[in-house]
Amino acid sequence: MIRLFTPLPLRGITLKNRLVISPMCQYSAQDGFVNDWHLVHLGSRAVGGAGLILLEATAVAPEGRITPDDLGIWHDDHVPGLQRITAFLRAHGCTPGIQLAHAGRKASHTSPWQGGQQLPPPAGGWPTVAPSALPFAPAETAPHELSAADIERLIQDFRSATRRAVAAGFDVVELHAAHGYLLHQFLSPLSNQRPDQYGGSFENRVRLLLEVVRATRAELPNHLPLFVRVSATDWTEGGWTADDTVALAYLLKAEGVDLLDCSTGGNVPQASIPVGPGYQVPFAKRVRQETGLPTGAVGLITTAQQAEEIIASGQADVVLLARASLRDPYFPLHAAQELGAEVAWPVQYERAKPRQT
Ligand SMILES: Cc1cc2nc3c(=O)[nH]c(=O)nc-3n(C[C@H](O)[C@H](O)[C@H](O)COP(=O)(O)O)c2cc1C
Repeated sequence: MIRLFTPLPLRGITLKNRLVISPMCQYSAQDGFVNDWHLVHLGSRAVGGAGLILLEATAVAPEGRITPDDLGIWHDDHVPGLQRITAFLRAHGCTPGIQLAHAGRKASHTSPWQGGQQLPPPAGGWPTVAPSALPFAPAETAPHELSAADIERLIQDFRSATRRAVAAGFDVVELHAAHGYLLHQFLSPLSNQRPDQYGGSFENRVRLLLEVVRATRAELPNHLPLFVRVSATDWTEGGWTADDTVALAYLLKAEGVDLLDCSTGGNVPQASIPVGPGYQVPFAKRVRQETGLPTGAVGLITTAQQAEEIIASGQADVVLLARASLRDPYFPLHAAQELGAEVAWPVQYERAKPRQT
């Protein structure tokens, strides 16, 4: 039996297979609104057979955007455009999901193809916020330290964004607590040096994420799953560790989180990361085995065999594909063909479907 193409029930919904399109910023929005690019890009990957597509990091507040071109969900006006996307994905058998995000000190930059540099307010950027007034890179302008009132507002921003995500028709919400963005900045002692109840001990550093999880879970209908993406390690002495991730996973499980999406890194520029095929999979495996929380494996998973092996050997419950799915939007259909799994093709493409001999 091919495990990659078995359905995955999560709360009241079922993913048709284990292949998830990883959230990927397109830096192609204006004022946070989706446009035809997003529909065609995401729609192609639904047609390509993915079980779940997680929309790119979508900002819960305007100042939480990585670039001025990020998607946003801070206003009710963003909902109708997103509805069009979820309706298309669902119509093609793909579960629509969204990653809710705030970039914190990594906000207000230019897109990668414009250099990925910090964008100062006179050039269209904005002042950034973070747990502590520590810049990501020494040459960057330091962020403002969030006050207690700012933190309360931030939690409400995630809550309102979740309400809008549900209204827009998303069946999965993922909180972005990885890659050095705001929630990760709170988790890691490298970026969080707060003297209050949100900094210092492990319990204090995870407090904001747990409060955001509670606010999100409160807005999500009971039948819809909640994912959290973390960087399972900072790959840096004195930073967030794999042991911390396991301890956090227990807490998230108790709060009603349904899956931990295990990425790594991104919080400090000087980390030394042993990048290679499937290099982050051991983190997904460890969390799943030690805590029983379902996990997602991501990072340099590029072949059908590799993805199948991860699921069949119980290292993760889903495999997230990013760059491989940019190279091939039909990766899931091609993987099924390669592994010998029978999956439906879009009826419009039926005549091109290779027949098993
Ligand atoms: C163009 C691009 C945009 C990305 N944007 C996001 C994002 O919005 N949120 C996120 O969590 N990760 C983002 N990532 C990271 C991917 O989701 C993924 O974790 C990473 O690329 C490793 O997977 P891969 O080896 O399959 O590409 C992005 C990656 C790429 C290539």
